[in-house]
Amino acid sequence: MLIRLHKYLAEAQVASRRKAEEIILQGRVKVNGKTIAELGTRVESDSDVVTVDGKRVQICEKMIYIMLNKPEGCVTTVKDQFDRKSVLDYVSDVKERVYPVGRLDYDTSGLLILTNDGDLTYKLTHPKHNIEKTYIADVDREPDSSDMERFKNGLIIDGRKTAPAEIEVIKKGRLTSLKIKIHEGRNRQVRKMCSAINCNVVRLKRIAEGNLELGRLEKGKYRYLTAEEIVYIKGL
Ligand code: URA
Repeated sequence: MLIRLHKYLAEAQVASRRKAEEIILQGRVKVNGKTIAELGTRVESDSDVVTVDGKRVQICEKMIYIMLNKPEGCVTTVKDQFDRKSVLDYVSDVKERVYPVGRLDYDTSGLLILTNDGDLTYKLTHPKHNIEKTYIADVDREPDSSDMERFKNGLIIDGRKTAPAEIEVIKKGRLTSLKIKIHEGRNRQVRKMCSAINCNVVRLKRIAEGNLELGRLEKGKYRYLTAEEIVYIKGL
């Protein structure tokens, strides 16, 4: 079936039709090896080979669900203006084109899901779903009980109050380790919330999203989610 390229990309869950047009204009799309950087091209959906950034994309691709232990020192975006290492570099042997679900800061490590299932990405990142995320934050000062109360009740960051959160001291020492659970995904939220109670985050790691746990997965390594985990995240 002949189909317009931007529609093909949208149906292959690369991006919305509007975003797909941008991707085409950026010269990132090839059809049968030839870069197509203008709009309006039609492709044969059953036989043409379409790639984006060198990876094949197809309508009705097999859905892939991956858990990566993101190391510090890489970005969660697909393209980086400073050409820094990306989380995709850690899954480069996966032949399907997958995308990170949500973000972790450059300096944050831990659990990151990658998938080509656009519906799931939309659902998991939509603010209305409020999926609980658990972090271990190593901070330079032990918060006292009034700091902890403020944290739990919600604090003002970027001019807006945070939703109630959980905080627990799990280790004391030169650095204090805090186990933190939040239900939002605001920019640098854990770091900002800790800083609002005068604790600087020295290390931050996400260890769970809902019941999905990072476990012993090594930093920089990935694994496929089990069938049970896939059912679980789809049901969140
Ligand atoms: N909160 C942060 O401050 N950084 C992250 O990467 C995730 C949550």
